[in-house]
Amino acid sequence: MNKTVVVIGSQWGDEGKGKITNYLSEAADVIVRFQGGDNAGHTIVFDNNTYKLHLLPSGIFDENKKNIMGNGMVINPKSLIKELEDIRSYGFKCNNLYISDRAHVIFDYHKVLDVLIEESLGDLKIGTTKKGIGPAYTDKVSRIGIRMADFVSDDFEEIYYKHLALKNKEIVRLGGEPISKDSLKEYLVIREIIKPLVCDTISLINEEHKLGSKILFEGAQGALLDIDYGTYPYVTSSSPSSAGVVVGSGLGVNKINEVLGIVKAYTTRVGEGPFPSELNNSLGDHIREVGHEYGATTNRPRRIGWFDSVLLNYSSMVNGLTGLAIMLLDVLTGINELQICVSYTLDGKIINSIPARLKDFSRCKPNYISLPGWSEDITNVKSFDELPVNAKNYLRKIEELVGVEIKCFSVGPDREQTIIMKEII
Ligand code: GDP
Ligand code: IMO
Ligand code: MG
Repeated sequence: MNKTVVVIGSQWGDEGKGKITNYLSEAADVIVRFQGGDNAGHTIVFDNNTYKLHLLPSGIFDENKKNIMGNGMVINPKSLIKELEDIRSYGFKCNNLYISDRAHVIFDYHKVLDVLIEESLGDLKIGTTKKGIGPAYTDKVSRIGIRMADFVSDDFEEIYYKHLALKNKEIVRLGGEPISKDSLKEYLVIREIIKPLVCDTISLINEEHKLGSKILFEGAQGALLDIDYGTYPYVTSSSPSSAGVVVGSGLGVNKINEVLGIVKAYTTRVGEGPFPSELNNSLGDHIREVGHEYGATTNRPRRIGWFDSVLLNYSSMVNGLTGLAIMLLDVLTGINELQICVSYTLDGKIINSIPARLKDFSRCKPNYISLPGWSEDITNVKSFDELPVNAKNYLRKIEELVGVEIKCFSVGPDREQTIIMKEII
């Protein structure tokens, strides 16, 4: 049994991290988001309701669990208030939320800059979620960000005006409209709501760990969107891989027990960037419709492709995966022949790695193996043994290619449609 479990997106995001985090949170005491912001869209389905979380950790529904927004996050207070209102409207109190005093705050000027920078990039645009994520992390690294501790302090007004003047210069330089000083007013109201939730979460997490609490870390995005390991520059601006847990929560690296890689049974990507196993055809369209593959944050259609074991091996290596959760297996039902990308060909050579230069990565041609599909409805299976033999073989092949044990799999969006093969937490 593990005390600390990290849930990591192992591809390009939207693998089903919210669903698995929520499922595992039943056995956890503390749930921690450690990076990203409201660029994330985590879908959770239970009791016939669908919830979409962007900032709140996926254990928020159970009052008895501490839900922590860690220091590695960038938090838009306006989005947070809206999300709290939304989840409270279903009857959940959300009194179990703790926000790091060291987390950075996303203001409207970050969002405006995100849009202006994308526009100025033209063909080179990243395809961001336009939530201000990149500009907020840029301020953090440039050491001019505003943190939660400042946001709720008496000095906030002065700090805000200084930053606004600086940021308005950038906005004007990029051809945008400067943001008025009046924008302060709304923040002054919002911060009063947020103030009681802001605390030293680094100490809190470490105290909980000392007490023997079970801690679940919920990654956002995915390893291939990681600022260091991902397909740069088509990445996000944080560290969604397991290394980000330590930086973004303050728990020591020696205290992590399990790193569960959340993996779609195929591959999706939103936004720009190379995607060797992409299916630009009717089969890709079919998977998009069956899997409802539209972004939970931006509603953009997700790009679809076959499962790619080169990407997964890389992801397993950089994350130190100790287990896999294979998601959306049911979406592949009814496809006669399934393909898995097992290597790439680049300039006549077979390679098993991701080239650093994106120009090279875009030239990589996928090499596939084929497996027979299955047609039986699997959405009600309760164990691995109940799966059709071809679905079992498909899972076993993924396990063999990635070299990491499958600890659970998922056959539908509902919390109940989760099959645990090995105890995780
Ligand atoms: P996250 O960002 O990793 O939390 O994933 P998203 O919520 O953005 O996207 C995953 C989508 O797949 C959501 O619409 C989920 O409801 C849905 N989902 C999760 N697991 C399964 C599954 O096993 N089968 C099906 N059909 N849908 C699933
Ligand atoms: P979850 O947590 C999928 C993508 C964007 C874009 C790139 C940079 O739901 O898996 P950003 O706004 O972060 O600067 O955009 O990253 N992206 C995601 N793709 N799932 C996500 O989150 C994502 N968050 C960001 O589409 O390509
Ligand atoms: Mg998502």
